[in-house]
Amino acid sequence: MDDPGHRWLNQHRSGQRLPQAVGGEGVHVIDEAGRRYLDGSSGPALFCLGHGHREVIEAIKAQYDRLAFGYSADFTSAPIDALAEALVEQAGGGMSRVSFVSGGSEATETAIKIALQYHLARGHSGRTHFFARRQSWHGYTMGALSLSGHPARRRPYVGALMPVTHLSPANAYRPPDGVAPDDLVDHLAAEFEREIHRVGAERIAAFFFEPVVGAAGGAVPAPDGYARRMRELCTRYGILMVADEVMCGVGRCGTWRALAHDGVAPDVMVTAKGLAGGYAPLGAALMTETVYRTIADTFGTIASVHTYSGHTAACAAGLAVQNVIRRDGLVAKCRDDGAYLMTALNQTFGQNPHVGDIRGRGFFVAVELVRDRESKTPFDAGLGLYKRVKDEAFARGLLCYPSPGTVDGMSGDHVILAPPYIISRAEIDRMVEVLGQAVDAAVASALKDAS
Ligand SMILES: Cc1ncc(COP(=O)(O)O)c(C=O)c1O
Repeated sequence: MDDPGHRWLNQHRSGQRLPQAVGGEGVHVIDEAGRRYLDGSSGPALFCLGHGHREVIEAIKAQYDRLAFGYSADFTSAPIDALAEALVEQAGGGMSRVSFVSGGSEATETAIKIALQYHLARGHSGRTHFFARRQSWHGYTMGALSLSGHPARRRPYVGALMPVTHLSPANAYRPPDGVAPDDLVDHLAAEFEREIHRVGAERIAAFFFEPVVGAAGGAVPAPDGYARRMRELCTRYGILMVADEVMCGVGRCGTWRALAHDGVAPDVMVTAKGLAGGYAPLGAALMTETVYRTIADTFGTIASVHTYSGHTAACAAGLAVQNVIRRDGLVAKCRDDGAYLMTALNQTFGQNPHVGDIRGRGFFVAVELVRDRESKTPFDAGLGLYKRVKDEAFARGLLCYPSPGTVDGMSGDHVILAPPYIISRAEIDRMVEVLGQAVDAAVASALKDAS
């Protein structure tokens, strides 16, 4: 008879049944056999406070004991009110109103609708087209997938996606052909402006981008000055700037709002993962007072709500997580220990002929693997190097986040490390050491199979 576990679709890796996770303690996940895994990527940059955090768990339990959900069409609640206050305060940058949802994709969809409603309220009903970038990820719902510059994930659905103009990624390691690093920002700004004129500014609603690109690029911070130039162009042409901080935000990059590092404020931002740190499904779209008032004065409110929007226990989880982050100074810790992590990565991988780039910010970093360092040639995609690294690390008790498609959506491999904010320096050392072993073993096996 079939193992009933087979009914759950995601349960295999390398032809083997996934182990069951049964416990978590700090930066470790524990499986059914009692094996401990160091969570070097917080799952997908999610578990910012690690696992089994007692304070957060007690706060959630206490909320469940009182009321699971005061349905948000009828009631507000103390956790939702307090969390909205906390987010606006932490975000700064003129963010003033919050729409709660259950995750990153829903937050992106909400931002799409906010942009459309904003322009409609201003009498610009023709502004329905969106700009985003190649090598980006905004989520798997149809609107978010349309924005996403991720060919492999788009492929099965591409005929049904909405048309989006995808600009070049802002990646200093892999600038467009013939563009010198010092000219990159000018080049990208010129491309943006050229595309605005080609499409027609009067048709464009918003520009979506990740201030530090996540899984689609491998922790890629934009070059200095990029966000500011894009901001200027958005403002000049009446296009809303939407910062997708689902992965890079909530302090992971060393500022609570990732784009604050660039001294730039968006019109709308979306956040999720670190918001409730994996203790509940929670996301949010934040917007400026101008955006909100424009919509509210015409339509009364944002026309986008889901059954679970503002779920009370999820907001209690988010509030508890944010309170701990603030009280324990964890954003500053990401910044300081992020520098320590970067030094450790440079020591371990700096001379490795198959590591082309080491990059990132705070506790959101990556190594990009290449076959040839000089020419930046990636490994053949068919070798599945990213998967080999994942398996080698897993076998050594390390969870990391390798992905393929780093160069152009099809070829290239990178490995993201995004540890829980609470990780100690000794654990950082261990994480980097084990990743070094895993990369060496994976590269050796890929080279063997390639020869
Ligand atoms: C930058 C970014 N935006 C949006 C999403 C979608 O979030 P979710 O998977 O919670 O729907 C993700 C998920 O990885 C992401 O990394």
